[in-house]
Amino acid sequence: MSGITIALSKGRIFEETVPLLAAAGIVATDDPETSRKLILATNRADVRIVIVRASDVPTYVQYGAADLGIAGKDILLEHGGAGLYQPLDLQIARCRMMVAVRADFDYALAVRQGARLRVATKYLKTAREHFAAKGVHIDLIKLYGSMELAPLVGLADAIVDVVSSGNTLRANQLVAVEEIAPISARLVVNQAALKLKRRALQPVIDAFAVAAEQGHARR
Ligand code: ATP
Ligand code: PRP
Repeated sequence: MSGITIALSKGRIFEETVPLLAAAGIVATDDPETSRKLILATNRADVRIVIVRASDVPTYVQYGAADLGIAGKDILLEHGGAGLYQPLDLQIARCRMMVAVRADFDYALAVRQGARLRVATKYLKTAREHFAAKGVHIDLIKLYGSMELAPLVGLADAIVDVVSSGNTLRANQLVAVEEIAPISARLVVNQAALKLKRRALQPVIDAFAVAAEQGHARR
């Protein structure tokens, strides 16, 4: 395709990207929350948006099925970033990757005693690397969501998940005990597309950069 294909996920990434797209002169003609379409046309004949799962955005861009995408740093850490150029921190969808445990679990003591911990998460690579760096032995349990439930029903001692307001942890009597990394969404660009389509892509990337900077300054 000679035009530009942008991969986005529904929900918070799409919502927070709408102003950035508008700043680049791009307006989707359908709302992904109400439409079942996976390819959205825009006001620009040369730009289309594809709607994919948040964790699939890097894959679509890596293989060139999309030229650009917006993905959380959490997802990019798991993906590894192969084939992707990551020119911009868009400062949207901000949260923190944390280790959390039940409020009645003495995490510091367990670590001091060299206990083997059961850790439930969808972020396997991030969790593995974090605990390896601390010298803590873990058994990893892969989940696809609702990580906060795992310590409550005895599936795990700890979880690794993103935390924003902390409301989900509080509602489930969990506490954050360690921050692994600050998280925000990044613009990702297919490396080959950047070379071959630079004239089309660079103005969009530049507009995103200005809009992200202005949006961040306003917050
Ligand atoms: P999937 O649909 O593939 O399971 P998901 O449910 O994690 O993915 P979203 O909830 O739309 O997808 O989250 C998209 C991105 O937003 C995440 O990758 C993360 O970077 C960020 N994010 C997740 N939760 C929050 C939150 N509570 N506050 C702010 N940003 C968040
Ligand atoms: C994310 C994350 C946490 C929650 C944290 O879930 O998995 O459960 O947000 O946010 P908080 O600290 O503000 O409570 P999300 O709301 O995206 O639900 P989902 O992953 O099931 O879509």
